[in-house]
Amino acid sequence: QQIELGGYEHFMLKEIMEQPESLRNCFRGRLDHREGRVVLGGLSKYTRDLVRAKRFIVTAQGTAYHAGLIGEYLLEDLAKVPARAAYASEFRYRNPIIEDASVILAISQSGETADTLAALREARERGALALGVVNQVGSTISRETDAGVYLHVGPEIGVASTKAFVGQVAVLTLIALYVGRRKFLAADVLAHYIDQLEKLPDHIQTVLKQSDHIRDCVEKVVDRDNWLFLGRGYNYPVALEGALKLKEISYIHAEGMPAAEMKHGPIALIDEGMPVVFIAPRGSQYDKVISNIEEVKARGGRIIAVATEGDEEINRYADFVFRVPDVPEPLQPLVTVVPLQLLAYHGAVLRGQDVDKPRNLAKSVTVE
Ligand code: AGP
Repeated sequence: QQIELGGYEHFMLKEIMEQPESLRNCFRGRLDHREGRVVLGGLSKYTRDLVRAKRFIVTAQGTAYHAGLIGEYLLEDLAKVPARAAYASEFRYRNPIIEDASVILAISQSGETADTLAALREARERGALALGVVNQVGSTISRETDAGVYLHVGPEIGVASTKAFVGQVAVLTLIALYVGRRKFLAADVLAHYIDQLEKLPDHIQTVLKQSDHIRDCVEKVVDRDNWLFLGRGYNYPVALEGALKLKEISYIHAEGMPAAEMKHGPIALIDEGMPVVFIAPRGSQYDKVISNIEEVKARGGRIIAVATEGDEEINRYADFVFRVPDVPEPLQPLVTVVPLQLLAYHGAVLRGQDVDKPRNLAKSVTVE
């Protein structure tokens, strides 16, 4: 085990730190810069069906579901195809309507999650084309799909999923670009995305350098038992993921939600010193997020902001700032989630928890 840990104290930290490398592996052979194409060999047989698809249903559980929610945004934004993410456990029992030309896209690190498998089977029986976005090669889900794209991020051992999430979001981005380019996305726009995607491993490396800074900040608030995570647009699912990471390994109660939703009830929770994490990179909804931050600040909340490098304005509001490089909005989750993984990791260690073996949890949930 010591050898596998490669000098890290926990698998979770190792897997967070190796994300630049695992993302490079995920992209290998898939970003064709010269020809300006995204290459997804696993989908090539079904390209026409994907271009003609009228609807994508993205199904998963837990962290993979959060990736799926980002997939919903990506598919609508970049491929202009109606998409919705659904918890597999809910989807399978709701007597789902599968219209013609539907695609079910199952996301799973292990490829063995019982509910995700059942949802996939249900939709496939009702006529959907079944795609998998899976890490574990040869797993049940990967065998039961018509086609798919492996993550190739390497085995994930830590119970808290980190590098698999980044791999899932990266693959969903590639799928959205693959379909989008064949529909309407201009060659130069795709070329720009390919350029930006190639830079992501280095960007993540830059974020990882803040690990000590993040630990020092977390130390000042880690005694608090209730946290909120807020974001908008592409960063709303990142808020959900940040909250899940914190809960599952540190046992701190945390809720994630769209920042605007706060005013519809949860704002009542905010009292002096409550940590509120805002995922607030520069982008189309930045000003709205700032006004949400002001509201929390006025009520005494302690603001932890994930913000773009060079954004000085945020310093006026935030007690602690974690920086991410400036990337196009659809790619933001791939960098904004990283400080939240480190936040959860350090929070759990500071609270003395067993990060790799959180209580009551198994790496994959193979029973309902
Ligand atoms: C997250 O950290 C958890 N390990 C959990 O939510 C996980 O993502 C979920 O159980 C789905 O697992 P899968 O990706 O193997 O299907």
